[in-house]
Amino acid sequence: MQGIQQTAADTGLYFAHLSDPHLTSLTSVRWQQLLNKRLLGYLSWHRRRRAEHQMEVLDALLADLQVTSPGHVVVTGDLTHIGLPDEFRQARNWLERLGHSDAVTVIPGNHESCAAAPWRGTFSEWESYMRSDAAFAAAAISGPEDLFPSLRIRDGVAFIGLSSACVTAPLMATGALGRAQLERLEERLQETAEQGLFRVVLLHHSPRAEDEKWRKRLTDSRALCAVLERVGAELVLHGHGHRAHRSELSFAGRPIPVFGVSSASAMSQREERRAQYGLYRIGRDIDSGDWSLDIEVRIYDSSRNRFVGGQRHQLLLPAMPSTSC
Ligand SMILES: [Fe+2]
Ligand SMILES: [Fe+2]
Repeated sequence: MQGIQQTAADTGLYFAHLSDPHLTSLTSVRWQQLLNKRLLGYLSWHRRRRAEHQMEVLDALLADLQVTSPGHVVVTGDLTHIGLPDEFRQARNWLERLGHSDAVTVIPGNHESCAAAPWRGTFSEWESYMRSDAAFAAAAISGPEDLFPSLRIRDGVAFIGLSSACVTAPLMATGALGRAQLERLEERLQETAEQGLFRVVLLHHSPRAEDEKWRKRLTDSRALCAVLERVGAELVLHGHGHRAHRSELSFAGRPIPVFGVSSASAMSQREERRAQYGLYRIGRDIDSGDWSLDIEVRIYDSSRNRFVGGQRHQLLLPAMPSTSC
């Protein structure tokens, strides 16, 4: 990948964003494990999703990442189908193929919270991939409230992870962040702005409820958008919609780009729903403090069983007031 000119840049992090791999198999599920909302999820997998989400696509993705070689990878949820303990273990094994937990940041999706389950034996399997850097981490973790918003800082970039995963009624796929998480998010955004970091907010659901179907929306999206409009962010990345999507929020008259990515394992014939991932390279002009963001989309080509280069964008993001040099 050709990067932006780095001559005046003080951060060179090059990272990948993928989402919704839905990589698990449910072939050995027992019926006793499906006596709740998981039954509908299982039937959906049996009828449609197991054909749509293919491990050969994810194998091609891992092979492509070997070539593109980003310094960090973020995964914005829905690694499982119905959030069973065995699925968390399958996903953990796949994450270990993707990379070391220091180089891979994970947040959960709604499919991980299909039904209420104890933290131990489920999300705890991914703890090393989700927890904050040691300086910002809670001493003991027994649930999502101890983990999120997570904060990981890599080469001048602050990855701030949110959890919008919550148990919902049958046929609903909404998400919620909750007041406490939003308050801590605002603090983390403020602190990382004061450090002059490029702030990337990661969440599973789209931050804009109007961009998603009603039954799949983030129910407190207005409160999230209000936080982002008060303290800003440089980039928001999400999944959930299983389609490539771009929108925008704003802070003090400056744009906050929002990118949604399709499922990393989808075989769809429709390009916007076929497997893809994004590569992001960040640069900064030392004199003006303005950021530059070079984005390449890599998309799955089923005829060659490999990922190939797709759309490219370059964005120039004016320095935000609180992050100006
Ligand atoms: Fe999904
Ligand atoms: Fe989802």
